[in-house]
Amino acid sequence: MKLFVLRFLLFSVITVPSLARPLSDYHGGQLANNATTLPIETAPTDLPRLAIYYQTTHTQATGGDPISILPLIAEKGIALTHIYICTFHVRYNDVIHLNDFPPDNARFTTLWQEVEVLRNSGIKVMGMVGGASAGSFTTRTLDAPEGDTNFEKHYLQLRDVLRRYNLQGLDIDVEQRMSLNGMLRLVRRLRSDFGPDFIITQAPVGTALMPSGSPNLSGFPYRQLEDTVGGDIAYYNAQLYNGFGTLFDTRSFDSVVSAGYDPKKIVAGQITTPANGGSFVPFEQLKATMNALVQKYGQIGGIMGWEYFNGMPGGTSEPWEWAQQITLILRPNFPARLIVTEGDARKLDEAWEVSVGGDGASVAEGEGKPDYRAMINA
Ligand SMILES: *[C@@H]1O[C@H](CO)[C@@H](O)[C@H](O)[C@H]1NC(C)=O
Ligand SMILES: *[C@@H]1O[C@H](CO)[C@@H](O)[C@H](O)[C@H]1NC(C)=O
Repeated sequence: MKLFVLRFLLFSVITVPSLARPLSDYHGGQLANNATTLPIETAPTDLPRLAIYYQTTHTQATGGDPISILPLIAEKGIALTHIYICTFHVRYNDVIHLNDFPPDNARFTTLWQEVEVLRNSGIKVMGMVGGASAGSFTTRTLDAPEGDTNFEKHYLQLRDVLRRYNLQGLDIDVEQRMSLNGMLRLVRRLRSDFGPDFIITQAPVGTALMPSGSPNLSGFPYRQLEDTVGGDIAYYNAQLYNGFGTLFDTRSFDSVVSAGYDPKKIVAGQITTPANGGSFVPFEQLKATMNALVQKYGQIGGIMGWEYFNGMPGGTSEPWEWAQQITLILRPNFPARLIVTEGDARKLDEAWEVSVGGDGASVAEGEGKPDYRAMINA
């Protein structure tokens, strides 16, 4: 299902054929059986992180039903720590967009209401800006020269949307040329506007963090960024797929660590299904790699997945199963705890009606509506 024109890494710049495995190696169902029996405990820390990108928000690019993310906390055995609402695009001389619409479009009413439940259940809810579609970081937008009013004009839209929806952090995914000074300014400005608890992360392709620094897509050196404002960058979502690295074995991660990064600051990025890029690492293989990394480094930053809506093994009908698999690999004892009050359920029901209310961008379908009342537990 290819719904959006704006997608993350549509292309594969280089490939790593020697590491590619046939998809027949995939054994999805095996680990899934354990998922329902895990005890509920409170995680003492976010490490290792389990993060997921939520870009495809609807069953259709225009109209369609919202794709609910509440199963990420309602289903058993998922220890999600972070979700990235994406993709925000800063557009020259225009308003900021969430994918193809302004974030306050009625179709996103359910999204923002569900996000509140996730936040109240202890998941860190962040935004992500940039991605594969160029525009957010040009010299007329967020990389505008010092003294050019274009930075302020476009940055303030981003700041306001982060504030308005109480996003707890921002993941910055630069996949076009940008200056180091431009990125330093953006990081410093976010820190000064949002204070010490705001989570600032970067999402470079894996190779950009390796000693060669190349290919990198962003132009600026991440190593220098880390040396200059590393204290303000919580961690890196390293894209270890699409030819920029892999978790078939530990070598890509090792290479990043050899460039001087703290293994706890590296969240290893994976595609959630072969449909989202290459190459998908089967869960058993991923588990072996992660175990080897933990043995080597003690603690590592975690795993992130691109993206939610079609993750294996459940696919579009049960996309949360990817997070169940990763929970078993990464943090099996700490599933998240869903907190839904009666008031939440009512607001979620109302939000759904608005989201599919047929205001031009939305068309009522209604078949996929979750049973929010059945989730009430507080
Ligand atoms: C998980 O399930 C597999 C296959 O059903 C089983 O062999 C294994 O012992 C289970 N592990 C745990 C921790 O229950
Ligand atoms: C980024 O990659 C390009 C080409 O892939 C390379 O020429 C450049 O030196 C790299 N920049 C850094 C900072 O590593």
